[in-house]
Amino acid sequence: MELYRDWLRPLIFATDPEWVHGQSLNWLERLGPFEKLVASQCCHQDLRLAQRLWGLDFGNPVGLAAGLDKAGQGIGMWGALGFGWAEVGTVTRHPQPGNPAPRLFRLPEDRAIINRMGFNNPGAVALAQRLQQIKSAVPLGINLGKSKITELALSAADYQFSFECLYPFGDYFVVNVSSPNTPGLRELQQARYLREIFAHLQGVNPAQKPLLVKIAPDLSEDDLSDIVELVLEFKLAGIIATNTTVTRPDLYSHHRQESGGLSGEPLKAPATAVLNTLWRLSEGRIPLVGVGGISTAEDAWERIIHGASLLQLYTGWVYEGPLVVKRILQGLSERCNQYQLGSLTEAIGLAHR
Ligand SMILES: Cc1cc2nc3c(=O)[nH]c(=O)nc-3n(C[C@H](O)[C@H](O)[C@H](O)COP(=O)(O)O)c2cc1C
Repeated sequence: MELYRDWLRPLIFATDPEWVHGQSLNWLERLGPFEKLVASQCCHQDLRLAQRLWGLDFGNPVGLAAGLDKAGQGIGMWGALGFGWAEVGTVTRHPQPGNPAPRLFRLPEDRAIINRMGFNNPGAVALAQRLQQIKSAVPLGINLGKSKITELALSAADYQFSFECLYPFGDYFVVNVSSPNTPGLRELQQARYLREIFAHLQGVNPAQKPLLVKIAPDLSEDDLSDIVELVLEFKLAGIIATNTTVTRPDLYSHHRQESGGLSGEPLKAPATAVLNTLWRLSEGRIPLVGVGGISTAEDAWERIIHGASLLQLYTGWVYEGPLVVKRILQGLSERCNQYQLGSLTEAIGLAHR
């Protein structure tokens, strides 16, 4: 009998997904006084899982993926919940309400989610104000998107505004050009747009803070090859692979025809395939963040041996609950024992050797 899976999840899943999401974040915001208690239940310490990357210290490789905490409400708690790092946003230059509800759907038979939230967020200025008040115990990333009202041709300046406004508060930044729910956004994955955005942001990056790009799982090998070249040319710190997919593999759930991005279990294979291709194209020279369908230690291990230096999850948290990070990390410690690794980083890309 497991508390979350057998008791809480059925209750939660009987309620409107967006309402539950909002309530959970409100709760998290007030959990501060219980931080130590929460940490004692949810954290797993093992020095072999720690690594230093981009000048930042990651206590473990499992991070919170973008989209869950768009406004930074949970910043004080992600470390206590076991995450080794966290990414807030997507945030845009202009505050925006996102798409009309309903826009978030659970697909329980497929262990998946479809969302078409459309970057609902309070805007870069409001996030900066929030970040002035609260510090993260773990490395904090800020995921930047294009405002819906900004024309594609003016995207670079739109990203630049948010980047400069939030610059003092992020340990690293992500150019998100891969969400399917802002019209035209994924076109920004074309080399001519990416080049302009990267040039703008790297041109106003005095402390050389790590800048990453987050890509879709639905790109061709040619597109991936262009992205790898640009990442090397503009000295980006890494690639986050991947965002949600607009494809629909065989699904069983009632909501399978809803439009939007699909995440969770059905994304596992396509996201791993993109990771593999990126590793091959970059010959292991670019740090990769694996995300998409990770919910067990086995998923995490597979992603690491296929080339991920770090991992993120979102949908796995919804399906497995707040102990999911601890379980994944315990499993990774067991893998370190099994393969006699002094550090988990020794396993990165092992499947390619
Ligand atoms: C409801 C929802 C909202 C999301 N919003 C964002 C977002 O604002 N920005 C972003 O880069 N990714 C967003 N994502 C994508 C996740 O960060 C992640 O890349 C994707 O869900 C795959 O990981 P998962 O299978 O562990 O969920 C969102 C995902 C979900 C389910």
